[in-house]
Amino acid sequence: MAADALTLARPDDWHLHLRDGEALSRTVRDAARVFGRAIVMPNLVPPVTTAADALAYRKRVLEARPSGSSFEPLMTLYLTERTAPDEIRRARDTGHVKAVKLYPAGATTNSDAGVRDLGRVDDALDAMADAGMPLLVHGEVTDHDVDIFDREEAFIEGRLRPLLARHPTLRVVFEHVTTRAAVAFVRSQPARVAATITAHHLLLNRNDMLVGGVRPHRYCLPVLKREEDRRALLEAATSGDARFFLGSDSAPHARDRKECASGCAGVYTGHAALELYAEAFDQAGALDRLEGFASHFGADFYGLPRAQARVTLRRAERPVPTELPFAGEALVPFRAGETVAWRVESA
Ligand code: NCD
Ligand code: ZN
Repeated sequence: MAADALTLARPDDWHLHLRDGEALSRTVRDAARVFGRAIVMPNLVPPVTTAADALAYRKRVLEARPSGSSFEPLMTLYLTERTAPDEIRRARDTGHVKAVKLYPAGATTNSDAGVRDLGRVDDALDAMADAGMPLLVHGEVTDHDVDIFDREEAFIEGRLRPLLARHPTLRVVFEHVTTRAAVAFVRSQPARVAATITAHHLLLNRNDMLVGGVRPHRYCLPVLKREEDRRALLEAATSGDARFFLGSDSAPHARDRKECASGCAGVYTGHAALELYAEAFDQAGALDRLEGFASHFGADFYGLPRAQARVTLRRAERPVPTELPFAGEALVPFRAGETVAWRVESA
């Protein structure tokens, strides 16, 4: 019989979209409910490209925290072909910018200002390696002739392996891995290469998005893959291998921008992220491995202390509303109108 309660060190989310403005009251409250820290993605409009932008954004996130919350946003810079090595050093010196995000231009939401030619960011990557700052990679090619389901795999051999060879001391997080090939690649690399895995990629395959009617609220990038890929992700997440850790990629878009002729990519799991991971680990009979994945390995990779505080997950069905208020609009959360199987209590 699997356990009905599980107490673990307070987890962190190593890949999270908080958005900005009024949206922060929703996203920050949901994150702070469970997570101690989060790596905050910089794909705002306009993107967070300087240390000053990141500090100003951090302040807005802190102001959106519920009273009494000690949730700590860890900021990131958005890498462009104009990012100067000095900007990397300035960011590092703030003490609050923990990583730099690579979006191949055109790969996903608000990636237009991203990188077209990886050869043009080598100086910035050298500065990051010197500063000990990890590069967070959205690992998909954007070539028109590469099938969307193959874009992650094409990125590995075509872009990531050469980049790692050119920068032998750069630390890299392969974000939101979605394929068996990506899992195998990360396993083949030294400890400077890690990966985050989302809850929705652990729970769903592409049939869950496309069979019996298209479900726009399950559409994200990288897109959901085959069942064999989902199984490989679940195996990696529950293996105890410290190179795989929690990054929810919770990415809200208002209902109207998901349910339309050209819908945005992004799944909102922020209202129940840890609970959803618990379901996935429970399915694999590996609840005892959740603490490493959710609370230890990410902190260790970033060289940050593991949390002292603890949270308790209790097995108890919890209904998910059909929609949530979101910056004056409606947001359809993951499992809308259904239930999640766990509940979080602070210990
Ligand atoms: C993210 C977003 O909406 O910002 N969307 C997504 O589908 N994951 C961007 C990203 O991380 O790719
Ligand atoms: Zn993301």
